[in-house]
Amino acid sequence: MKSNAKDSEKLSTEGSLSKPMPYFVFLVFLVCIFYAVAFVYHPYSYTANPHQSEFVQFEIPSRPKPKSPDKTNLSHIVFGVAASGKQWSKRKSYIQQWWRPNETRGFVWLDEKVEAGADEKNLPPLKISGDTSQFKYNNSEGDRSAIRISRIISETLRLGMEDVRWFVMGDDDTVFFPDNLVRVLQKYDHNYYYYIGSLSESHLQNIHFSYNMAYGGGGIAISYPLAKALEKMQDMCIQRYPHLYGSDDRIQACMAELGVPLTIEKGFHQYDVYGNVFGLLAAHPIAPLVSLHHLDLVEPIFPNMNRVQALEQLKLPSEHDSAGLMQQSICYDQDRRWTISVSWGYTVQIFRGTIYAREMERPSRTFYNWYPKAGYTGYPFNTRPVNLKRCQKPFVYFISNATYNSQIDKTVTEYSSHRIPRMRCSWIKADPSQIDRVEVYKKPNPYLWDKPPRRNCCRILPSKNNGTMVIEVGDCKEDEIIVLR
Ligand SMILES: *[C@@H]1O[C@H](CO)[C@@H](O)[C@H](O)[C@H]1NC(C)=O
Ligand SMILES: *[C@@H]1O[C@H](CO)[C@@H](O)[C@H](O)[C@H]1NC(C)=O
Ligand SMILES: *[C@@H]1O[C@H](CO)[C@@H](O)[C@H](O)[C@H]1NC(C)=O
Ligand SMILES: *[C@@H]1O[C@H](CO)[C@@H](O)[C@H](O)[C@H]1NC(C)=O
Ligand SMILES: *[C@@H]1O[C@H](CO)[C@@H](O)[C@H](O)[C@H]1NC(C)=O
Repeated sequence: MKSNAKDSEKLSTEGSLSKPMPYFVFLVFLVCIFYAVAFVYHPYSYTANPHQSEFVQFEIPSRPKPKSPDKTNLSHIVFGVAASGKQWSKRKSYIQQWWRPNETRGFVWLDEKVEAGADEKNLPPLKISGDTSQFKYNNSEGDRSAIRISRIISETLRLGMEDVRWFVMGDDDTVFFPDNLVRVLQKYDHNYYYYIGSLSESHLQNIHFSYNMAYGGGGIAISYPLAKALEKMQDMCIQRYPHLYGSDDRIQACMAELGVPLTIEKGFHQYDVYGNVFGLLAAHPIAPLVSLHHLDLVEPIFPNMNRVQALEQLKLPSEHDSAGLMQQSICYDQDRRWTISVSWGYTVQIFRGTIYAREMERPSRTFYNWYPKAGYTGYPFNTRPVNLKRCQKPFVYFISNATYNSQIDKTVTEYSSHRIPRMRCSWIKADPSQIDRVEVYKKPNPYLWDKPPRRNCCRILPSKNNGTMVIEVGDCKEDEIIVLR
């Protein structure tokens, strides 16, 4: 042992620069090391083979390859939807909006048996959650159903389904966009521990619960091995937190014990807001739209429709180009001095004058804070007032149709004017009120999220009809910038 230590000591002094050795000795030394290493890693390279080339190639050991190199698809995801018997007859219509029989896998977990109505189509199979009466719960503001709901992933795992890579849970008033969920999860190696979701829109909620927590209504994605680890410890873990409020903070408490941080994906939307989410959807972060939540609390996302009809309005654009849904692009009508913002598949807005991209990318405050007293300083992200200047009340257009033109390989989305009373404004001559229809051309791009995020660009095209504005949306050119010249 000792002599070994000495030998290596000797070697290291000899190799040091303080005592330079003759050049050829050094070379011989290097060559020896090369062959020694080559022999160790490839002992068979030296067998006499007349056909072998002079140069012996050997592989550098590489990192282990992922076990399943094939891409994650919808069939690898199992959903667990938290529901209650009381609200079932109303809330199931939200699930019907996104559930795809024979494509999506998973269950609705209820607290009690429900009457099967005539309209039970397009729903996941129903299950009754296990008994949780033995668990402690003493939060005076919450409801002990939180314990039942926090165990959905563990209970789903125990069903032993095959080829599961991810468990995703959400509420009965959560609407998922399954193709975008797949796009997000594809980025992560499901063989490792991942806890993915997003925060609340309320800074106070995040302070109160945690900035490390995936909010349950926005959706929580947990990789299979992490779900296995959770399942083993969760029932004991839950008993340590009888004072917590909900199901998602109970899951987060266990994640903290497992040492697994939250991976934030900005397309999961808890929507802890009141009022109109228009501002948030018109300036969506540059990330795929994965979910919407609290649809009972906020106004319908389109005017003059009920909540479910409004969601149905997103179906057409989503079918044509789900990756591009709600992606904002900003451009300028150079002649008329207008700023245009497109939230693809949802809305187009025209503003008089120049509004810089850094303003336009901030959601306008059409919504209210979860804690009404908190106001605009209570958001954990930037917002802007609805009208930046008096004359900059936007002209708003909502999607009315979406088609795909195979001859030009482009989607054609139409947006119709939402007329509201407004003050006269002679500040900028050109008046957008003559425009009652906007037509947007865009090449569908299912691979949009396979590369680093970048905002799409939009460009105003000439139009034969004064009442119609024609816009093209697509990849920005390498050095294209968003400015009014
Ligand atoms: C999903 O991937 C699996 C391989 O892991 C494959 O067998 C299956 O056909 C794929 N499903 C779809 C819908 O592409
Ligand atoms: C789903 O699959 C089953 C069995 O393959 C089939 O009987 C049923 O019609 C399918 N349902 C739908 C909506 O495609
Ligand atoms: C809830 O129970 C725990 C443990 O029994 C106790 O430490 C805590 O003070 C209780 N909290 C409330 C609000 O009663
Ligand atoms: C949408 O456009 C298609 C093709 O132009 C047309 O057939 C259809 O009637 C339109 N739908 C609505 C609601 O305008
Ligand atoms: C369209 O606008 C131009 C210029 O403002 C005007 O000359 C023309 O008459 C308008 N056409 C229609 C059909 O309104």
